[in-house]
Amino acid sequence: MKILSLYSPINNNDILIYREKVEKIHHALLTYKATEWIDFPLQNREKLLDSIHYVANEIKACADVLVVIGVGGSFLGARAIQEALAPYFGLPKGGIEIVYAGLNMSGAYIKELLAYLDGKQVYVNVISKSGGTMEPALAFRVLRLYMEARYGDKAVERIIVTTDEEKGILKNMADKVGYRQFVIPDDVGGRYSVLTAVGLLPVAVAGVDIQELMDGARHAATELAQPELAFNDAYKYAVMRHMLYEQGYTNELLASFEPGLSKFHEWWKQLFGESEGKDHKGLYPSTVTFSTDLHAIGQYIQDGRRILFETLLHFHEIEGDMAVPYDARDEDGLNYLTNRTFNEINAISKQGTALAHAEGDVPVIQIELPKLDAYHLGYLIYFFMKACAMSACLLEVNPFDQPGVEAYKRKMLELLKEEKAVTE
Ligand code: PA5
Repeated sequence: MKILSLYSPINNNDILIYREKVEKIHHALLTYKATEWIDFPLQNREKLLDSIHYVANEIKACADVLVVIGVGGSFLGARAIQEALAPYFGLPKGGIEIVYAGLNMSGAYIKELLAYLDGKQVYVNVISKSGGTMEPALAFRVLRLYMEARYGDKAVERIIVTTDEEKGILKNMADKVGYRQFVIPDDVGGRYSVLTAVGLLPVAVAGVDIQELMDGARHAATELAQPELAFNDAYKYAVMRHMLYEQGYTNELLASFEPGLSKFHEWWKQLFGESEGKDHKGLYPSTVTFSTDLHAIGQYIQDGRRILFETLLHFHEIEGDMAVPYDARDEDGLNYLTNRTFNEINAISKQGTALAHAEGDVPVIQIELPKLDAYHLGYLIYFFMKACAMSACLLEVNPFDQPGVEAYKRKMLELLKEEKAVTE
């Protein structure tokens, strides 16, 4: 992996003034609660991966579709990996269809989902660390009743619970009924949990090679254990974005040129948004998929308020490509491109976009990886988690809590209870 400050007021040497601070935070981070994810890929995970493979193979053999119930960190990572590696059309190779529930409270969504499941063989994986979050709890109520109505006594075998080892409503329900369970480790918060059973079971069912994914994460965990800023790419990225923030570039745009990465963007957005947006501080994380979004938000990036910088994700190798076909008529005037492939043109459009944005005073950071595959996604996921923890600490906020999310839940519950009191 390579991280480059491509076109930026911050150069690769400027960041070194943060050397000592970064090293201090590196050591302090290990004293935080909720940092088990840092060493998670380094430990022997054979037993966990074996039991995930076992259950995933059963689900693939007995179901047409797996419904993953979860919200925030309990589903975004799985969806990010699954969609980044899935074919654009049709079912995944070596896996079955995954659909998501409990990520919203739309009545239309859940109603249509039930209708969609009819006639298909179904398994459910409900994921909630606290076990009491409203969105997944409501969806699980509906889907549990649906599964019981369809499968009777056998429903218990088709529902897999991923939750805390000891506590929570979901844990109690699972123990009482006897659902099979996977554990979310106590010291791994939701948005840092994708490399545990939270993300691994759904993506294994989708046909992703989870051993490769974890190998990539292990590689990152080894390389990025380095406390020295000059040798740690995750910390370099954290400092670059922090310095840009200090100079007034308060919004970061994560940009990719591969549409399959759009759900990866969503995972990244939650990771940084929930970790950093505290005490009226924090970079605003937003995302764009090019070249599509160049025709939507490109004007603003080029010419709008100068508060944006761009982080470009670049994978050197993307599986699947085709050459521009020759057409003797050449009525569209595109025959000059017939010695090129689509991926080559896409890569050149990336170069052109970076140059144009730099000319428009939009700093550009580039993150380069050799290939878009499970191994390098595992690496990138770990890279961003490590960078995020450092970046939040540079802002002097806690990377692992989310007190602001509780505010909406409190208000919603107050309103729901007030309405109940009125109707009683
Ligand atoms: O990152 C987080 O901690 C949150 O996004 C949670 O994952 C999200 O709120 C869901 O919580 P739970 O898994 O407890 O249902």
